[in-house]
Amino acid sequence: MKIACLGGGPAGLYFAISMKLRDAGHDVTVFERNRPDDTFGWGVVFSNETFDNIAANDPVSADTIRAHFAYWDDIAVHYRGQRVVSSGHGFSGIARKQLLMLLQQRALALGVILNFQTEIASAAELARSYDLVVAADGLNSKTRNEFSDHFKPAIDVRKNKFVWLGTRQKFDDAFTFIFEQTAHGWIWAHAYQFDADTATFIVECSPTTWEKFGFGAMSQEDSCRACERIFANYLGGHRLMSNAAHIRGSSWLNFPRVLCEKWSHRNIVLMGDAAATAHFSIGSGTKLAMESAVAMADLLHAEPTMAAAFAKYEAARRSEVLRLQSAARNSMEWFEDVERYLHLDPVQFNYSLLTRSQRISHENLRLRDKTWLEGAEAWFQRMAGGGANTVRRPMFAPFKLRDMRLKNRVVVSPMAQYKAIDGCPTDWHLVHYGERAKGGAGLVCIEMTCVSAEGRITPGCTGMYAADHEAAWKRIVDFVHAETEAKICCQLGHSGAKGSTQVGWEEMDAPLAEGNWPVLSASATAWSERNQRARAMDRNDMDRVRDQFVAAAQMAARAGFDMLEIHCAHGYLLSSFITPLTNRRRDEYGGSLANRMRYPLEIFQAVRAVWPAEKPISVRISATDWVGAAGVEPPDAVAISRMLQQAGVDICDVSAGQTSIHARPVYGRMFQTPFSDRIRNETGMATMAVGNIYEPDHVNSILMAGRADLVCLARPHLADPYWTLRAAAKLGDRGERWPQPYYAGRDQLYRLSGSGEPATVIA
Ligand SMILES: Cc1cc2nc3c(=O)[nH]c(=O)nc-3n(C[C@H](O)[C@H](O)[C@H](O)COP(=O)(O)OP(=O)(O)OC[C@H]3O[C@@H](n4cnc5c(N)ncnc54)[C@H](O)[C@@H]3O)c2cc1C
Ligand SMILES: Cc1cc2nc3c(=O)[nH]c(=O)nc-3n(C[C@H](O)[C@H](O)[C@H](O)COP(=O)(O)O)c2cc1C
Repeated sequence: MKIACLGGGPAGLYFAISMKLRDAGHDVTVFERNRPDDTFGWGVVFSNETFDNIAANDPVSADTIRAHFAYWDDIAVHYRGQRVVSSGHGFSGIARKQLLMLLQQRALALGVILNFQTEIASAAELARSYDLVVAADGLNSKTRNEFSDHFKPAIDVRKNKFVWLGTRQKFDDAFTFIFEQTAHGWIWAHAYQFDADTATFIVECSPTTWEKFGFGAMSQEDSCRACERIFANYLGGHRLMSNAAHIRGSSWLNFPRVLCEKWSHRNIVLMGDAAATAHFSIGSGTKLAMESAVAMADLLHAEPTMAAAFAKYEAARRSEVLRLQSAARNSMEWFEDVERYLHLDPVQFNYSLLTRSQRISHENLRLRDKTWLEGAEAWFQRMAGGGANTVRRPMFAPFKLRDMRLKNRVVVSPMAQYKAIDGCPTDWHLVHYGERAKGGAGLVCIEMTCVSAEGRITPGCTGMYAADHEAAWKRIVDFVHAETEAKICCQLGHSGAKGSTQVGWEEMDAPLAEGNWPVLSASATAWSERNQRARAMDRNDMDRVRDQFVAAAQMAARAGFDMLEIHCAHGYLLSSFITPLTNRRRDEYGGSLANRMRYPLEIFQAVRAVWPAEKPISVRISATDWVGAAGVEPPDAVAISRMLQQAGVDICDVSAGQTSIHARPVYGRMFQTPFSDRIRNETGMATMAVGNIYEPDHVNSILMAGRADLVCLARPHLADPYWTLRAAAKLGDRGERWPQPYYAGRDQLYRLSGSGEPATVIA
């Protein structure tokens, strides 16, 4: 096969090598516009794990590359006058120039033709005289532009500014992050050694800080001098150096996130940065480029045609690339939003930094550096009032809201059971909630319990509007208090336009076959074309519903609930006021966010006035409508939470969506947690995170990183009321109390989990 590699970076060279290794008969030429040794940039990093894949492809080049690696195991973070070090991270660095020279030598040895100082004007032209053209022409790929109609690139230029510098100062004991507060704002460096006497020193900051420093107008030299002054305490008198002569002006860049709909066209295929980029903060661009080269070479030899190889390459590599890009995006966004976290204690800040890509889990950190993690866990317990020298997972830390003290951070999220009769909870509810309270969660939140018969979602929903409701709930609350250590929260709500619908296991949100009742909402809207149109509430309706909330709160107080939650999410009545999708009012309850929040806040204030002062109130919100700018978006959720916080709401339960049939949610593990993170760290308000959180590891990492104060799990508690006790056994935690009649089961579980002797479990 006659092959042209357009670009002599890691992707082009490694593809040439990989093809020759598979068949020495291939005629492979690399075209590179630069000279062999005239590369920009400083070092690149590989993690130990990822380099193994590359070594398996070509042990010869891997050995020569390894011989030039600088290794380090630690990550050091300088922040607020402290240097926090954690270990076990296993990285290696190499000069980009060195890497390319080694790849060039290996390519030459295998018979690849290297044409330097040869600028290719058009891949299409090259494609006429070669069987295959691999366009590995980097970030600003001309080929990608030449066929942009076909490749359909999406390029997202990110807001932060960064510059890639080098220094002779040694950073050889740790990959080092330095966060400096200056008169112009925060600015930080990512520094790592890549050979005996040189380290990469990437400086990054927000566009505001960058403008205030005036970096845009500086020469590369002046920029280096300015950065030296900023980081003088860490440079030991060494200079910062730029080798970006190929970039005009100051050499500061914005990271472009590149994604292409297609990677191949006729006999041309995109590879490396030309096809997809990964943010430098997870150091995987070179790995990605080299791994794609291996995958393409494999497929070209395994598949019957080039077209089949391209198809498989796109199918197989895309998911891998997207996975890495998603981790890279998390990491990149963490740095973009870092000012949100700069109030955190150095311990928590460090944890947040280490887990920013969400690829490193809590227990994975323990494998890397047990001592450091245990120190962080002890800090968390100390802050939570859990005892001075307690080392337990964050999920087992106590939490206090007003006078309510929770034994741990796990919450059974509210879940409608649809088993009530005329609003009255039954023995189903006693057993259901009783079991969940026995199962170890610190807080059990009951389902949305409706303040009136017409405020129910379905005929099976529970209510708090009649004396028998109060008595039935009291029986449940009394059981929870008598037999368990759990606290119990009453979620109060009104269905609004989503009322008069079928129970959950029938057709959700669809009207009843018969017996529908009229529904109310902020405006005269319908949930869907099939649902009835709600009547817009007038002042009388608003007063009546407010009084119903108040009466329900009084009943909940008499029933002995420990906490109240007001349901302002998911498209129900109060949520219909908040989201502009359903609030079309022209009075003082519609229009601006402050107006749309007015009625939910009136309800809260009225309820707060009758709810015992020592007991907390939570409000559940939908932090996004998932419809883009037409609806509530995360910055609005921050503003909403600020209003709740100012009104005296104790904690925000941060859910999302279910406010519109046009919503396009982006699901994934812990997918709503970023909203809780943002609210908690931008407002200082306590939050609960919820949504696809199902592993103890998720819970621990959310809490330890300060992304929420409590963590709600819904569906996992349907499958297993004993989720918390099981998690404790699995993790070998001995501090959770089991119901006495279940000790034998507990002991067996601990034994089977290999978590040590059950006799040491706290009774
Ligand atoms: C600040 C920063 C730090 C980074 N740190 C790391 C890191 O630590 N680890 C890591 O793995 N990655 C890192 N990267 C990313 C890494 O540099 C790239 O992902 C990697 O180089 C991609 O390889 P490539 O072969 O696709 O492209 P490139 O390395 O960009 O190579 C493309 C080559 O094509 C040549 N070329 C382009 N157009 C033409 C043309 N028309 N004719 C002839 N030749 C042409 C260019 O001269 C260039 O040599 C970093 C990137 C940045 C910006
Ligand atoms: C069967 C079921 C019923 C639910 N009922 C309620 C409810 O009454 N009130 C509420 O706020 N959320 C309700 N939810 C939403 C959950 O509390 C939770 O926010 C959602 O299921 C995401 O969490 P998960 O991924 O842990 O299941 C319900 C969820 C389920 C699965």
